[in-house]
Amino acid sequence: MKVAVVTGAAQGVGLATSELLADSGYHVVMTDVQPLDDQLANLRSGGRQLSAISGDISDSGFVSELASKVQRDNGGADTLVNNAGISLICPAEETSIDQWQQVISINLTAPFLLCQAFGKQMLDRGSGSIVNVASIAGLHGVIHRTAYNASKHGLIGLTRTLAAEWGGRGVRVNAVCPGWIKTEMDARDMGSGAYSDDDIINRVPQARFARPQEVARAIAFLAESDGFINGVSLPVDGGWTGDASWDALRIKTRRPATSDENKL
Ligand SMILES: NC(=O)c1ccc[n+]([C@@H]2O[C@H](COP(=O)([O-])OP(=O)(O)OC[C@H]3O[C@@H](n4cnc5c(N)ncnc54)[C@H](O)[C@@H]3O)[C@@H](O)[C@H]2O)c1
Repeated sequence: MKVAVVTGAAQGVGLATSELLADSGYHVVMTDVQPLDDQLANLRSGGRQLSAISGDISDSGFVSELASKVQRDNGGADTLVNNAGISLICPAEETSIDQWQQVISINLTAPFLLCQAFGKQMLDRGSGSIVNVASIAGLHGVIHRTAYNASKHGLIGLTRTLAAEWGGRGVRVNAVCPGWIKTEMDARDMGSGAYSDDDIINRVPQARFARPQEVARAIAFLAESDGFINGVSLPVDGGWTGDASWDALRIKTRRPATSDENKL
């Protein structure tokens, strides 16, 4: 049975990805800084094969322990999904060094250490696949998100470099770049008053937020063990990054939002 490790698996994209990969026949090792008992019990009740290890991925000691435990208990990982991340909405000139370092540590340094630890297992075996969850904020600038955007741009750079370095040794590394998704992260960010549903919906050609399951499907597609896709950063954004139109033009050309698919 193939083994996938998913970080940030307690909720949102990580939980949806754990469920989808388990449904696709993987044994999924869920990991998160939060407890995972309830999620594990729910997903296992469907007959899926999963286990869980809680810990903080910004602690390099935990990353080493996690990789050793997966090697010992599961024979190593075939797939790593670096999904865990935190957001920060703050003007650049007010972002403190502590805020900057926390975002870079969780969103960029931790995925690097996880790639190293699990990449070694994959390189030894001569096969494996890593999917990093970046963002459209890794492809373009977004105001008031300096640390977050820098971390996601860095994650895409890490993805491309590891894809080049490890592709010839059987390990592929790709990224997904979601647009705004309806998850707890979005609820927290929106709760701060930084933006509204309409701000996002008006900007997206497909006129809605992404769903966690849609991002999970893109992750599962890139994760397949014998693919030829390597080093890409795949937008899952309803057309956001391809669209340089102004809002009024985009909205004018839409059909009225009457069908269910146009709702959140
Ligand atoms: N929600 C969005 O609109 C959006 C858009 C683009 C990209 N993303 C990215 O998608 C990924 C998942 O986002 P989400 O919306 O599901 O977020 P979320 O906040 O709902 O879930 C993130 C998970 O990561 C875990 N986590 C955070 N810090 C951790 C740490 N130090 N160690 C271990 N686990 C930790 C949290 O406990 C949580 O379960 C993130 O990398 C995020 O940056 C989200």
